[in-house]
Amino acid sequence: MRSAILPKRYVTCERRTSRTTCPFSLSLTRLNAVSDWTPGSWRALPAEQQPAWPDEHALELALKRLSSLPPLVFAGEARALREALAGVAAGKAFLLQAGDCAESFYDFTADSIRDKLKVILQMAVVLTYGTGKPVVKVGRIAGQFAKPRSAPSEVVDGVEIPAFRGHIVNDDAPTPEARRPDPSRLVAAYHQSASTLNLLRAFTKGGFADLSQVHMWNQQFVSSSREGQRYETIAGEIDRALRFMAACGIDLLAEESLHQVDFYTSHEALILGYEEALTRKDSLTGGWYDTSAHLLWVGERTRQSSGAHAHFLSGVGNPVAAKVGPAATPEELVALCRVLDPGRQPGRLTLICRMGAGKVGEMLPPLQRAVQDSGHPVVWACDPMHGNTFVSDGGRKTRHFDDVLAEISGFFAACRSTGSWPGGVHIELTGDSVTECLGGAEEVLEDDLELRYTTTCDPRLNARQSLDLAFRVAELLRAG
Ligand code: PEP
Ligand code: CO
Repeated sequence: MRSAILPKRYVTCERRTSRTTCPFSLSLTRLNAVSDWTPGSWRALPAEQQPAWPDEHALELALKRLSSLPPLVFAGEARALREALAGVAAGKAFLLQAGDCAESFYDFTADSIRDKLKVILQMAVVLTYGTGKPVVKVGRIAGQFAKPRSAPSEVVDGVEIPAFRGHIVNDDAPTPEARRPDPSRLVAAYHQSASTLNLLRAFTKGGFADLSQVHMWNQQFVSSSREGQRYETIAGEIDRALRFMAACGIDLLAEESLHQVDFYTSHEALILGYEEALTRKDSLTGGWYDTSAHLLWVGERTRQSSGAHAHFLSGVGNPVAAKVGPAATPEELVALCRVLDPGRQPGRLTLICRMGAGKVGEMLPPLQRAVQDSGHPVVWACDPMHGNTFVSDGGRKTRHFDDVLAEISGFFAACRSTGSWPGGVHIELTGDSVTECLGGAEEVLEDDLELRYTTTCDPRLNARQSLDLAFRVAELLRAG
């Protein structure tokens, strides 16, 4: 596992790239030129954040290889997620989207995948139990490798080297050789995604996610904590409810939903060549689907309505999402909704707001009103992570649990003021006992950041902080 102390000038994925022209005001004429959408028509448009691949031929070979490999997910599964998200858009369900900031080629074991799934399942139990609403579970997993950067290069020890763009592009070691974009990584990322997905399918459909296993998801280092004990109480009540149903003569074995969960995958659709190569025509409907994941999103740096990323996602039938930061204007956002959700289809588009705790109260309501007026039935979700990152005195990128919670509270308040359903949360977390984010019930302090700081990119909540957060979100949801 690699991690390095980050100097204050470290290239973060929070700050906006400086550009000579405003990317949100690009003319629409070029987009019209490619109004006949194909998986490759994005190539005629300006594409932000693409790596400068040094070897064109090697890139072509990698993309050709990818386009011949089997799909990772099926169109029917993507449609099932869209329907589940339509339930969220209607205020009948809640979305929990969570996982790593960036998956790593080094931290790739059955245990780390299982432990991430455990904490997501625990959070879902807490939210479902606490609110009585179904929770749609989506991982930032099995494909979340590529990272947008605020600058294409950085200076390390006086040498300018390309920025780290995620293991799908280059290595994080701070040397010019390691940072050279390598197209064979695209194929490696595909294979890692396939293995991850295989394990997730086995875990979620093969007995591990059975509701009778609810105690087992509480990891040892979590169960002794206050939030772990709170979780145990719920788990005990679920046990009692199951025993009660069995005693009433209900055949629990026949109830599939007690033994399996639907778990979906998602990632930022950043490296468009990769996404194009995995986009396939659905034999059932004839529509195009990006089979690299169930849900794809455009990030804060690539959400230009006339840019290549939005154009690419406009043509696939998957449910899609967009990150929305504090610089977004109502006009920009409505233009983006028009591109991504022309049919005003419930479940098609999720807007993931990441304003920062101090800005959400002011920035979000005008955006929500504009989208409401435009008639797009979007899911509103809150990413309380990316607007609240700062660098500690010791040089670590971090976030404070209290800021994360404050942004979620502000999001709920904004939704209440506009009459929108606070549809979900989008969290960067891990099942491990890392010390990357400050605060929480058993407080992580600045000095603790040195203990277990292993993220490949942004700081993640550990399993206890994540569970604690789920209880707080359930309380906010109950408070209506
Ligand atoms: C991310 O989700 O890791 C990310 C880079 O987010 P954003 O595009 O919102 O900055
Ligand atoms: Co991140």
